[in-house]
Amino acid sequence: MNNKRILVTGGAGFIGSNLVLHLMKSYPGCEICNLDKLTYASDLTFLADVQSQKNYSFVQVDIVNREAVRNIIRDFRPDGVFHLAAESHVDNSISGPEPFIMSNVVGTFNLLEELRLWWTEENLFDKGRFLHVSTDEVYGSLGATGFFTEETPYAPNSPYSASKASSDMLVRAYHHTYGMNVVTTNCSNNYGPHQHDEKLIPTVIRTALAQKPIPIYGKGDNIRDWLFVGDHCKALDDVFQKGRSGETYNIGGHNEWTNIDLVRKICSLLDEMVGEGPEGGYAQLITFVKDRPGHDMRYAIDPTKIETELGWRNTQSFEDEMKKTLAWYIARYQK
Ligand SMILES: NC(=O)c1ccc[n+]([C@@H]2O[C@H](COP(=O)([O-])OP(=O)(O)OC[C@H]3O[C@@H](n4cnc5c(N)ncnc54)[C@H](O)[C@@H]3O)[C@@H](O)[C@H]2O)c1
Repeated sequence: MNNKRILVTGGAGFIGSNLVLHLMKSYPGCEICNLDKLTYASDLTFLADVQSQKNYSFVQVDIVNREAVRNIIRDFRPDGVFHLAAESHVDNSISGPEPFIMSNVVGTFNLLEELRLWWTEENLFDKGRFLHVSTDEVYGSLGATGFFTEETPYAPNSPYSASKASSDMLVRAYHHTYGMNVVTTNCSNNYGPHQHDEKLIPTVIRTALAQKPIPIYGKGDNIRDWLFVGDHCKALDDVFQKGRSGETYNIGGHNEWTNIDLVRKICSLLDEMVGEGPEGGYAQLITFVKDRPGHDMRYAIDPTKIETELGWRNTQSFEDEMKKTLAWYIARYQK
Protein backbone atom coordinates (compact mmCIF):
# COMPACT_ATOMS: atom_id res chain seq x y z
CA MET A 1 0.00 0.00 0.00
CA ASN A 2 2.86 2.37 0.80
CA ASN A 3 4.08 4.44 -2.20
CA LYS A 4 0.65 4.28 -3.84
CA ARG A 5 -1.10 7.35 -5.19
CA ILE A 6 -4.59 7.20 -3.74
CA LEU A 7 -7.52 9.38 -4.79
CA VAL A 8 -10.30 9.53 -2.18
CA THR A 9 -13.56 11.03 -3.47
CA GLY A 10 -15.90 12.52 -0.88
CA GLY A 11 -13.02 12.78 1.60
CA ALA A 12 -14.53 15.84 3.31
CA GLY A 13 -17.70 13.96 4.31
CA PHE A 14 -18.43 11.71 7.29
CA ILE A 15 -16.88 8.39 6.25
CA GLY A 16 -14.45 9.96 3.77
CA SER A 17 -12.78 12.20 6.38
CA ASN A 18 -12.43 9.25 8.78
CA LEU A 19 -10.97 7.20 5.90
CA VAL A 20 -8.46 9.93 4.93
CA LEU A 21 -7.26 10.09 8.56
CA HIS A 22 -7.02 6.28 8.68
CA LEU A 23 -4.99 6.10 5.44
CA MET A 24 -2.70 9.01 6.39
CA LYS A 25 -1.93 7.36 9.75
CA SER A 26 -1.55 3.80 8.45
CA TYR A 27 0.42 4.49 5.24
CA PRO A 28 2.73 7.48 5.64
CA GLY A 29 4.39 6.58 2.32
CA CYS A 30 1.16 7.06 0.34
CA GLU A 31 0.22 10.18 -1.58
CA ILE A 32 -3.40 10.96 -0.75
CA CYS A 33 -5.51 13.34 -2.81
CA ASN A 34 -8.91 14.23 -1.38
CA LEU A 35 -11.40 15.20 -4.10
CA ASP A 36 -14.64 16.76 -2.89
CA LYS A 37 -17.23 19.20 -4.20
CA LEU A 38 -17.70 20.55 -0.65
CA THR A 39 -21.47 20.25 -0.46
CA TYR A 40 -23.36 21.25 2.71
CA ALA A 41 -22.50 17.75 4.09
CA SER A 42 -18.73 18.30 4.05
CA ASP A 43 -16.38 19.86 6.57
CA LEU A 44 -12.67 20.23 5.88
CA THR A 45 -11.92 21.24 9.48
CA PHE A 46 -12.09 17.52 10.37
CA LEU A 47 -8.88 17.16 8.37
CA ALA A 48 -7.01 20.05 10.00
CA ASP A 49 -4.45 17.62 11.47
CA VAL A 50 -3.30 16.41 8.06
CA GLN A 51 -3.89 19.38 5.77
CA SER A 52 -0.32 20.66 5.89
CA GLN A 53 1.33 17.25 5.46
CA LYS A 54 3.35 16.93 2.24
CA ASN A 55 1.69 13.69 1.12
CA TYR A 56 -1.86 15.12 1.41
CA SER A 57 -3.65 17.39 -1.04
CA PHE A 58 -7.19 18.59 -1.53
CA VAL A 59 -9.01 19.53 -4.73
CA GLN A 60 -12.47 21.00 -4.95
CA VAL A 61 -14.06 19.13 -7.86
CA ASP A 62 -17.65 18.21 -8.73
CA ILE A 63 -17.58 14.68 -10.18
CA VAL A 64 -20.56 15.60 -12.35
CA ASN A 65 -18.15 17.83 -14.31
CA ARG A 66 -16.47 15.33 -16.65
CA GLU A 67 -13.73 17.66 -17.78
CA ALA A 68 -12.76 18.49 -14.19
CA VAL A 69 -12.65 14.74 -13.42
CA ARG A 70 -10.43 14.15 -16.48
CA ASN A 71 -8.06 16.94 -15.42
CA ILE A 72 -7.60 15.79 -11.84
CA ILE A 73 -7.05 12.18 -12.88
CA ARG A 74 -4.35 13.23 -15.34
CA ASP A 75 -2.77 15.68 -12.89
CA PHE A 76 -2.74 13.43 -9.84
CA ARG A 77 -2.21 10.12 -11.70
CA PRO A 78 -3.89 7.82 -9.12
CA ASP A 79 -3.18 4.13 -9.06
CA GLY A 80 -5.98 3.58 -6.58
CA VAL A 81 -9.36 5.22 -6.01
CA PHE A 82 -11.66 4.98 -2.98
CA HIS A 83 -14.95 6.36 -4.32
CA LEU A 84 -17.19 7.73 -1.56
CA ALA A 85 -18.48 11.02 -3.04
CA ALA A 86 -22.27 10.89 -3.08
CA GLU A 87 -25.43 12.58 -1.97
CA SER A 88 -26.25 10.44 1.04
CA HIS A 89 -29.42 11.49 2.88
CA VAL A 90 -32.55 9.44 2.07
CA ASP A 91 -34.97 12.23 3.13
CA ASN A 92 -33.29 14.69 0.74
CA SER A 93 -33.55 12.14 -2.08
CA ILE A 94 -37.32 12.01 -1.50
CA SER A 95 -37.78 15.79 -1.54
CA GLY A 96 -35.34 16.37 -4.43
CA PRO A 97 -33.93 13.32 -6.25
CA GLU A 98 -32.06 15.05 -9.09
CA PRO A 99 -28.73 15.72 -7.32
CA PHE A 100 -28.70 12.04 -6.33
CA ILE A 101 -28.94 10.94 -9.96
CA MET A 102 -26.31 13.47 -11.02
CA SER A 103 -23.69 12.91 -8.31
CA ASN A 104 -24.24 9.24 -7.58
CA VAL A 105 -24.91 7.89 -11.08
CA VAL A 106 -23.43 10.39 -13.58
CA GLY A 107 -20.55 11.22 -11.22
CA THR A 108 -19.65 7.53 -10.82
CA PHE A 109 -19.82 7.06 -14.59
CA ASN A 110 -17.48 10.04 -15.15
CA LEU A 111 -14.92 8.60 -12.76
CA LEU A 112 -15.08 5.09 -14.25
CA GLU A 113 -14.87 6.30 -17.82
CA GLU A 114 -12.04 8.80 -17.28
CA LEU A 115 -10.07 6.23 -15.27
CA ARG A 116 -10.63 3.58 -17.92
CA LEU A 117 -9.34 5.88 -20.67
CA TRP A 118 -6.34 7.08 -18.71
CA TRP A 119 -5.33 3.71 -17.26
CA THR A 120 -5.56 2.22 -20.79
CA GLU A 121 -3.40 4.99 -22.29
CA GLU A 122 -0.78 4.71 -19.53
CA ASN A 123 -0.76 0.91 -19.46
CA LEU A 124 -1.92 0.94 -15.83
CA PHE A 125 -5.06 -1.03 -16.47
CA ASP A 126 -4.00 -4.05 -14.39
CA LYS A 127 -2.28 -2.04 -11.66
CA GLY A 128 -5.06 0.50 -11.04
CA ARG A 129 -7.85 -0.36 -8.60
CA PHE A 130 -11.25 1.26 -8.11
CA LEU A 131 -13.07 0.66 -4.80
CA HIS A 132 -16.71 1.67 -4.99
CA VAL A 133 -18.29 2.38 -1.59
CA SER A 134 -21.97 1.51 -1.54
CA THR A 135 -24.72 0.72 0.90
CA ASP A 136 -26.86 -2.19 2.12
CA GLU A 137 -29.93 -0.11 1.16
CA VAL A 138 -29.58 -1.39 -2.43
CA TYR A 139 -31.05 -4.71 -1.22
CA GLY A 140 -34.34 -3.15 -0.10
CA SER A 141 -36.06 -4.20 3.10
CA LEU A 142 -35.94 -7.40 5.18
CA GLY A 143 -38.76 -8.88 7.26
CA ALA A 144 -38.22 -9.99 10.84
CA THR A 145 -35.65 -12.64 9.91
CA GLY A 146 -32.82 -13.22 7.41
CA PHE A 147 -29.75 -11.25 6.36
CA PHE A 148 -28.46 -9.53 3.23
CA THR A 149 -25.73 -11.57 1.54
CA GLU A 150 -23.80 -10.72 -1.63
CA GLU A 151 -26.32 -12.91 -3.51
CA THR A 152 -29.42 -11.02 -2.31
CA PRO A 153 -31.18 -9.52 -5.36
CA TYR A 154 -31.15 -5.73 -5.60
CA ALA A 155 -34.50 -4.10 -4.71
CA PRO A 156 -33.85 -0.42 -3.92
CA ASN A 157 -36.86 1.51 -2.60
CA SER A 158 -35.78 5.17 -2.26
CA PRO A 159 -34.30 7.49 -4.88
CA TYR A 160 -31.07 7.38 -2.79
CA SER A 161 -30.82 3.59 -2.80
CA ALA A 162 -31.85 3.45 -6.47
CA SER A 163 -29.04 5.87 -7.36
CA LYS A 164 -26.51 3.79 -5.40
CA ALA A 165 -27.81 0.55 -6.97
CA SER A 166 -27.40 2.16 -10.42
CA SER A 167 -23.83 3.15 -9.68
CA ASP A 168 -23.08 -0.40 -8.40
CA MET A 169 -24.34 -1.75 -11.75
CA LEU A 170 -22.07 0.61 -13.69
CA VAL A 171 -19.08 -0.54 -11.64
CA ARG A 172 -20.04 -4.17 -12.30
CA ALA A 173 -20.37 -3.47 -16.04
CA TYR A 174 -16.92 -1.82 -16.21
CA HIS A 175 -15.43 -5.00 -14.80
CA HIS A 176 -17.33 -7.41 -17.03
CA THR A 177 -17.06 -5.35 -20.23
CA TYR A 178 -13.60 -3.79 -19.97
CA GLY A 179 -11.91 -5.97 -17.34
CA MET A 180 -11.43 -3.00 -15.04
CA ASN A 181 -10.02 -3.85 -11.62
CA VAL A 182 -12.94 -2.92 -9.35
CA VAL A 183 -14.31 -3.96 -5.96
CA THR A 184 -17.62 -2.87 -4.41
CA THR A 185 -18.58 -2.74 -0.74
CA ASN A 186 -22.12 -2.61 0.64
CA CYS A 187 -22.10 -1.45 4.24
CA SER A 188 -24.73 -1.03 6.93
CA ASN A 189 -25.41 2.22 8.86
CA ASN A 190 -22.32 3.88 10.31
CA TYR A 191 -21.98 5.85 13.54
CA GLY A 192 -19.04 7.89 14.78
CA PRO A 193 -17.58 11.40 14.71
CA HIS A 194 -17.90 13.80 11.72
CA GLN A 195 -21.45 12.91 10.66
CA HIS A 196 -23.63 15.74 9.39
CA ASP A 197 -26.22 17.19 11.82
CA GLU A 198 -29.13 16.00 9.65
CA LYS A 199 -28.54 12.27 10.30
CA LEU A 200 -30.31 10.25 13.04
CA ILE A 201 -27.65 10.00 15.76
CA PRO A 202 -26.42 13.63 15.56
CA THR A 203 -30.07 14.78 15.48
CA VAL A 204 -30.87 12.82 18.65
CA ILE A 205 -27.86 14.23 20.50
CA ARG A 206 -28.34 17.81 19.28
CA THR A 207 -32.04 18.00 20.08
CA ALA A 208 -31.62 16.21 23.43
CA LEU A 209 -28.92 18.62 24.57
CA ALA A 210 -31.09 21.57 23.47
CA GLN A 211 -33.98 19.97 25.45
CA LYS A 212 -36.13 19.93 22.33
CA PRO A 213 -38.41 17.10 21.11
CA ILE A 214 -36.34 14.18 19.74
CA PRO A 215 -38.13 13.18 16.51
CA ILE A 216 -38.55 9.48 15.68
CA TYR A 217 -40.24 8.28 12.50
CA GLY A 218 -43.43 6.19 12.88
CA LYS A 219 -43.33 3.92 15.93
CA GLY A 220 -39.53 3.67 15.94
CA ASP A 221 -39.66 -0.05 15.17
CA ASN A 222 -37.50 0.07 12.01
CA ILE A 223 -34.30 -1.92 12.50
CA ARG A 224 -30.80 -0.89 11.42
CA ASP A 225 -27.45 -2.71 11.79
CA TRP A 226 -24.97 -0.17 13.24
CA LEU A 227 -21.21 -0.25 12.57
CA PHE A 228 -18.56 2.06 13.98
CA VAL A 229 -17.06 4.19 11.19
CA GLY A 230 -13.49 3.16 12.15
CA ASP A 231 -14.40 -0.50 11.56
CA HIS A 232 -15.87 0.46 8.18
CA CYS A 233 -12.64 2.27 7.22
CA LYS A 234 -10.56 -0.76 8.18
CA ALA A 235 -12.87 -2.95 6.06
CA LEU A 236 -12.46 -0.60 3.07
CA ASP A 237 -8.69 -0.78 3.50
CA ASP A 238 -8.84 -4.62 3.59
CA VAL A 239 -11.11 -4.85 0.54
CA PHE A 240 -8.94 -2.40 -1.41
CA GLN A 241 -5.82 -4.42 -0.67
CA LYS A 242 -7.07 -7.99 -0.63
CA GLY A 243 -10.52 -8.11 -2.27
CA ARG A 244 -10.89 -10.11 -5.48
CA SER A 245 -11.42 -8.01 -8.59
CA GLY A 246 -15.04 -7.83 -9.72
CA GLU A 247 -16.36 -9.01 -6.32
CA THR A 248 -18.67 -7.30 -3.87
CA TYR A 249 -18.26 -7.50 -0.08
CA ASN A 250 -20.99 -6.83 2.49
CA ILE A 251 -19.81 -5.04 5.64
CA GLY A 252 -21.76 -5.13 8.88
CA GLY A 253 -21.24 -5.59 12.59
CA HIS A 254 -24.01 -7.99 13.75
CA ASN A 255 -25.41 -5.08 15.72
CA GLU A 256 -29.13 -4.65 15.10
CA TRP A 257 -31.17 -2.04 16.94
CA THR A 258 -34.72 -0.79 16.54
CA ASN A 259 -34.63 2.99 16.18
CA ILE A 260 -36.52 3.44 19.44
CA ASP A 261 -34.14 1.20 21.41
CA LEU A 262 -31.13 2.97 19.92
CA VAL A 263 -32.52 6.39 20.79
CA ARG A 264 -33.39 5.25 24.35
CA LYS A 265 -29.83 3.90 24.70
CA ILE A 266 -28.36 7.22 23.56
CA CYS A 267 -30.64 9.07 25.98
CA SER A 268 -29.56 6.90 28.91
CA LEU A 269 -25.87 7.39 28.01
CA LEU A 270 -26.50 11.14 27.85
CA ASP A 271 -28.15 10.96 31.31
CA GLU A 272 -24.92 9.36 32.61
CA MET A 273 -22.48 11.56 30.71
CA VAL A 274 -24.20 14.97 30.83
CA GLY A 275 -27.14 14.87 33.23
CA GLU A 276 -29.02 18.17 33.11
CA GLY A 277 -31.88 16.55 31.15
CA PRO A 278 -35.57 16.86 31.95
CA GLU A 279 -37.09 15.16 34.99
CA GLY A 280 -37.06 11.40 34.21
CA GLY A 281 -34.13 11.73 31.75
CA TYR A 282 -33.58 12.71 28.12
CA ALA A 283 -35.88 9.88 26.92
CA GLN A 284 -38.82 12.04 28.06
CA LEU A 285 -38.09 14.21 24.99
CA ILE A 286 -38.78 11.37 22.48
CA THR A 287 -41.61 12.35 20.10
CA PHE A 288 -43.02 10.16 17.35
CA VAL A 289 -43.48 11.93 14.00
CA LYS A 290 -45.09 10.98 10.65
CA ASP A 291 -43.15 8.11 9.07
CA ARG A 292 -40.82 8.54 6.09
CA PRO A 293 -42.60 7.45 2.85
CA GLY A 294 -41.50 3.95 1.78
CA HIS A 295 -39.46 3.54 4.98
CA ASP A 296 -37.56 0.22 4.79
CA MET A 297 -38.38 -1.93 7.85
CA ARG A 298 -35.16 -3.81 8.51
CA TYR A 299 -31.57 -3.97 7.28
CA ALA A 300 -29.15 -6.63 8.52
CA ILE A 301 -25.87 -7.71 6.97
CA ASP A 302 -24.32 -11.16 6.80
CA PRO A 303 -20.57 -10.31 6.77
CA THR A 304 -19.39 -13.95 6.42
CA LYS A 305 -17.65 -13.33 3.09
CA ILE A 306 -15.43 -10.43 4.22
CA GLU A 307 -14.74 -12.23 7.53
CA THR A 308 -13.72 -15.56 6.02
CA GLU A 309 -12.03 -14.35 2.81
CA LEU A 310 -10.26 -11.25 4.08
CA GLY A 311 -10.06 -11.85 7.83
CA TRP A 312 -11.88 -8.58 8.67
CA ARG A 313 -13.75 -8.42 12.00
CA ASN A 314 -15.89 -5.79 13.67
CA THR A 315 -13.51 -5.25 16.57
CA GLN A 316 -14.94 -2.36 18.55
CA SER A 317 -17.36 -2.58 21.45
CA PHE A 318 -20.62 -0.77 20.62
CA GLU A 319 -20.95 0.69 24.14
CA ASP A 320 -17.35 2.03 24.18
CA GLU A 321 -17.43 3.49 20.67
CA MET A 322 -20.89 4.99 21.20
CA LYS A 323 -19.67 6.69 24.39
CA LYS A 324 -16.67 8.14 22.50
CA THR A 325 -19.00 9.20 19.69
CA LEU A 326 -21.34 10.92 22.14
CA ALA A 327 -18.40 12.69 23.79
CA TRP A 328 -17.35 14.04 20.36
CA TYR A 329 -20.85 15.43 19.61
CA ILE A 330 -21.34 16.76 23.14
CA ALA A 331 -18.13 18.79 22.75
CA ARG A 332 -19.34 19.99 19.33
CA TYR A 333 -22.86 20.96 20.37
CA GLN A 334 -21.99 22.43 23.75
CA LYS A 335 -19.39 24.86 22.30
N1 LIG B 1 -23.22 6.96 6.27
C1 LIG B 1 -23.51 5.68 6.20
O1 LIG B 1 -24.02 5.10 7.17
C2 LIG B 1 -23.19 4.89 4.95
C3 LIG B 1 -23.37 3.51 4.97
C4 LIG B 1 -23.02 2.77 3.81
C5 LIG B 1 -22.52 3.42 2.69
N2 LIG B 1 -22.39 4.77 2.70
C6 LIG B 1 -21.82 5.40 1.49
O2 LIG B 1 -20.56 5.95 1.86
C7 LIG B 1 -20.29 7.12 1.12
C8 LIG B 1 -20.01 8.27 2.07
O3 LIG B 1 -21.14 8.45 2.91
P1 LIG B 1 -21.15 9.59 4.03
O4 LIG B 1 -22.14 9.19 5.05
O5 LIG B 1 -19.75 9.90 4.43
O6 LIG B 1 -21.74 10.82 3.20
P2 LIG B 1 -21.59 12.38 3.45
O7 LIG B 1 -22.84 12.98 2.89
O8 LIG B 1 -21.23 12.67 4.87
O9 LIG B 1 -20.34 12.79 2.54
C9 LIG B 1 -20.38 12.77 1.15
C10 LIG B 1 -19.26 13.64 0.63
O10 LIG B 1 -19.33 13.59 -0.82
C11 LIG B 1 -19.18 14.91 -1.34
N3 LIG B 1 -19.89 15.00 -2.61
C12 LIG B 1 -21.24 14.90 -2.83
N4 LIG B 1 -21.51 15.08 -4.13
C13 LIG B 1 -20.32 15.28 -4.77
C14 LIG B 1 -19.95 15.55 -6.10
N5 LIG B 1 -20.88 15.67 -7.07
N6 LIG B 1 -18.65 15.69 -6.40
C15 LIG B 1 -17.69 15.59 -5.42
N7 LIG B 1 -17.99 15.39 -4.12
C16 LIG B 1 -19.30 15.23 -3.78
C17 LIG B 1 -19.80 15.82 -0.27
O11 LIG B 1 -19.30 17.15 -0.38
C18 LIG B 1 -19.39 15.12 1.03
O12 LIG B 1 -18.14 15.59 1.49
C19 LIG B 1 -21.51 7.36 0.23
O13 LIG B 1 -21.23 6.87 -1.05
C20 LIG B 1 -22.61 6.54 0.90
O14 LIG B 1 -23.55 6.10 -0.04
C21 LIG B 1 -22.71 5.52 3.80
